[in-house]
Amino acid sequence: MTAKRNILVTGGLGFIGSHTVLCLNEAGYNPIIIDNLHNSKIEVLDALEELLGYRPVFVQGDVNDEALINGLFVTHSPEAVIHFAAHKAVGESVDNPLMYYQNNVVGLITLLAAMKAQDCSKMVFSSSCTVYGEPETVPVKESTPTRPAASPYGATKQMAEVILKDNNWCEVQCLRYFNPVGAHPTAKIGELPLGVPNNLIPYLTQTVAGIREKLTVYGGDYHTADGTCIRDYIHVMDLAEAHVAAIDRLFTSQRIQKVLEGDPSTDAFEVFNIGTGVGYSVLEVINAFEKATGERVNYSVGNRRAGDVVAVWADTEKVNQVLGWSAKRDLATMMKDAWNWQKNC
Ligand code: UD1
Repeated sequence: MTAKRNILVTGGLGFIGSHTVLCLNEAGYNPIIIDNLHNSKIEVLDALEELLGYRPVFVQGDVNDEALINGLFVTHSPEAVIHFAAHKAVGESVDNPLMYYQNNVVGLITLLAAMKAQDCSKMVFSSSCTVYGEPETVPVKESTPTRPAASPYGATKQMAEVILKDNNWCEVQCLRYFNPVGAHPTAKIGELPLGVPNNLIPYLTQTVAGIREKLTVYGGDYHTADGTCIRDYIHVMDLAEAHVAAIDRLFTSQRIQKVLEGDPSTDAFEVFNIGTGVGYSVLEVINAFEKATGERVNYSVGNRRAGDVVAVWADTEKVNQVLGWSAKRDLATMMKDAWNWQKNC
């Protein structure tokens, strides 16, 4: 039996990271988790242990800790990295931009330096559809021009993409996520927002659970069919599976060899939209939640939220063709799983 490949998962106890750890294991990889518990809880490790049937390797620490990161590479010799560890709240990034540049940009550089020193040249990177800003046309393709970032958070994702492109000794699968929602079907892991949630689904489920009084729909006068914003919501398990497809590609594509041989037609950096290809309005999401769960959502339509784009959803042709991945779970499943998780919290 050949040894399993070690994959370093930074932010592996977070929302997307924890689901990806399960999918990596399922696909025969050995996840090595590093997480600083800034936006996650140690209980997630217990839940992972229960779901995996063993306790995965976990190191509590920060990607900015150079000595720790170097030590991890020496001890575990990961063959690839999935880099989730980053801050992701738009408003917080406006209030504290330094924190965002330090963690999301400097942290990435620290990680890359350790990878280079240890000859690890494969990474899957968490980017975001935020790089497209307010697109002129939808759906957005990977070739759709990016727009100036509307927040320091968005700027850190754009900068990270540039840094990764320039470091072409490293083969990168850059995944631009649309709106991840839902939870593991067992409801043992899911999204754990800190304090008052900013994002739609945790705010909605907390409202139905009685933790919040009422959900405000941010704006009902947009130029869309029902006046509310449109997003491409994707089940977190589909998203996690996309990471495994990206890791598989890193071990099979031989792209980095071609780049190192000077093949001008090959680029070490590949970018993929990770969405379903279908956009839903905020009101459609609320209706889908009510239908899927039988619960009523207390909401009212309020003012627009500064910085919101009107409508964005993914063109998924490239990811379907090249990565061989497509989303399988529908909006009803996303809503049911998000609600089951909320009830279990
Ligand atoms: C934002 C970021 C995205 C980031 C994601 C994860 C932008 C433009 N988007 O996505 O890059 O990856 O957060 O944190 O930077 N809504 C309400 N009421 C609420 C909350 C949200 O009506 O209480 C609406 C919003 O106006 C929006 C939709 O729900 O139309 C989704 O909002 P949200 O879940 O916050 O995600 P995004 O803003 O799309």
